[in-house]
Amino acid sequence: MASRWSPESWRAYEARQMPTYPDADALQRAERELLSYPPLVFAGEARALKAELGKVAAGEAFLLQGGDCAESFAEFHPNNIRDTFRVLLQMAVVLTYASKLPIVKVGRMAGQFAKPRSTDTEEQGGVSLPSYRGDNVNDIAFTAESRTPDPQRMVRGYNQSAATLNLLRAFAQGGYANLHQVHRWTLDFMGRSPWAERYQALADRIGEALDFMAACGINPETVPQLKATAFYTSHEALLLAYEQALTREDSLTGNWYGLSAHMLWIGDRTRFEGSAHVEYLRGIGNPIGIKCGPSLEPDVLLRMLDTLDPAREPGRITLITRYGHDKIEKHLPDLVRAVKREGRPVVWSCDPMHGNVIKAANGFKTRPFERILAEVRGFFAVHRAEGTHGGGIHAEMTGQNVTECTGGAVAITDEGLADRYHTQCDPRLNAGQSIELAFLLAEMLNQEMKEREKAAA
Ligand code: PEP
Ligand code: CO
Repeated sequence: MASRWSPESWRAYEARQMPTYPDADALQRAERELLSYPPLVFAGEARALKAELGKVAAGEAFLLQGGDCAESFAEFHPNNIRDTFRVLLQMAVVLTYASKLPIVKVGRMAGQFAKPRSTDTEEQGGVSLPSYRGDNVNDIAFTAESRTPDPQRMVRGYNQSAATLNLLRAFAQGGYANLHQVHRWTLDFMGRSPWAERYQALADRIGEALDFMAACGINPETVPQLKATAFYTSHEALLLAYEQALTREDSLTGNWYGLSAHMLWIGDRTRFEGSAHVEYLRGIGNPIGIKCGPSLEPDVLLRMLDTLDPAREPGRITLITRYGHDKIEKHLPDLVRAVKREGRPVVWSCDPMHGNVIKAANGFKTRPFERILAEVRGFFAVHRAEGTHGGGIHAEMTGQNVTECTGGAVAITDEGLADRYHTQCDPRLNAGQSIELAFLLAEMLNQEMKEREKAAA
């Protein structure tokens, strides 16, 4: 892959998981339209995120990445954006306190539309139609018209992303992220959680720390950092026509950036050798995620790292492992050892969602909360044994009170899935389950930090 890169050089490579648009002229029109629009983020912000992720790679910070499996046009509502943002902040406070590390916050938001699918077509009652590929490609309704890829959906996706990002920026900087307020929300959640007792000690200590700081005169008025936060966006760089149209040359550095989001990742199904997606990502300066599933051989990963990160830049690569609760301890050590042997400064992040999907007896696609936790436990156990930093979590979650994953404190049963199953794609943790995950992660991170202190003493 040493040939010259350009924003469109991916077109000469094998591009899997891409829609076939029936009208090539309409596609070109949409691409030209997007190319004339402002980028959604600034290259300097992508560099700032890369620097923060560099700290994660060095063991000095922790990455929290989360949001919908797939955003949708139908669920586009300020309350949905607000609630997911709020839950991410609550998780971040719990994690900061437990780990004593800064938490790098990245939403799967403001652009997470395109979805890879296991088959190109879907069958229902003897009828075969193109699979749903995300709202920026086609519509989920099972009719020939809805399922036909429409390039104008990319423009609508761009506009929704712009409005979402605008609100996120306002929340992050405008006072909504006030630390005292975030802690009050967590106390309020705890008041309703059957597991409150488990979390009480940690929540009390956070409260005491805040009271202590306030008594010392450290409050949101005197220290503005307490009421603002850095918040970044990310999505899977799947729909390359869209990504290409938002690829811009940074006037400050002369480098190319994908400016549809701060961080872009490559999915487990498109990271094969010779892939158009790898070709696209190698040329942009953003931080890049790579989904690593059971089929990824360590030597293939190392070659991919040579391609995507020849300069070995800390923060450039986040390896997002997604094996499944019963596979992680078998597969992850080989990958960790290979990467460590090569001295590559990567972020290791745990996606405990995509390897743990099952079909409930009543047909719903779900993820048992216990399996999600088991994968997280396995992830930390491997990193502890290998002496590497379990640096992040990647979750599909929402601030809404949905019933998509079973288990958790308010135990959702298979039957309960039918109540509020709203996802366009994969089952998400609801608000309560997300905060519970943060408390349980906190225990594990706290243990990692204690062991680190012991080793240093
Ligand atoms: C996803 O993150 O929604 C996804 C499709 O993941 P993966 O590529 O790991 O299967
Ligand atoms: Co998903």
